[in-house]
Amino acid sequence: MGDKLNLAILASGNGSNAENIIQHAQKYPHLNISVLISDKESATVLKKASDLGVETKVCPVMRSEFKTLTDAKMSQEKEVLKILKDQKVDWILLAGYMRLLSSDFLNQFYDKENDLTRVLNIHPSILPSFPGKNSYRDAFDYGVKVSGATIHFVDSGVDTGPIILQKSFPLNKGDTFEDFNSRGLEVEYELYRELLDILSSGHPADALMGRN
Ligand code: GRF
Repeated sequence: MGDKLNLAILASGNGSNAENIIQHAQKYPHLNISVLISDKESATVLKKASDLGVETKVCPVMRSEFKTLTDAKMSQEKEVLKILKDQKVDWILLAGYMRLLSSDFLNQFYDKENDLTRVLNIHPSILPSFPGKNSYRDAFDYGVKVSGATIHFVDSGVDTGPIILQKSFPLNKGDTFEDFNSRGLEVEYELYRELLDILSSGHPADALMGRN
């Protein structure tokens, strides 16, 4: 690792978290967003990132070029990995990236010295409640009174990695789903800003692992 911490963002969609991460990281001279990678060519996040001066790459799953979907996914992951290695990325931040990462991929970012994997995700619920894809919708439809967001280490399960940060928010009387969802996103932005503050501190590993 050099003087700067090289961060990569992986995102598939709208990119409001990515935008928030980039804007906050740009306040720290030693945090460098090396690249934003999307698996979706049409993702709005690509324009948001390049408007903020971040290099972007698109790595779609090329289903038609492979015999099986598994092969296509493996090849896509290899391509992502090559970009991350070429860019000497230290930490990966997932921000609405709608793909699971294999253990082979995650092992490439295992930091033996600190016994952690340098791949982090934001999930729109208080894990372990409401894992999966549509967590705000699921929580709202269930009728929760409190929801929240979680930043966690990524493992090869679905939203199962060790928890780093969580923050809750209430369902207010008369809230529509849209109100609830946008309150959740604001909480996500706060959490990723807090995470970047931790990463920018001299020795983030202990803080992330809850060891200090
Ligand atoms: C966020 O709620 C994120 O937690 C979830 O998908 C949403 C992505 O939003 N996984 P955006 O693309 O960051 O605006």
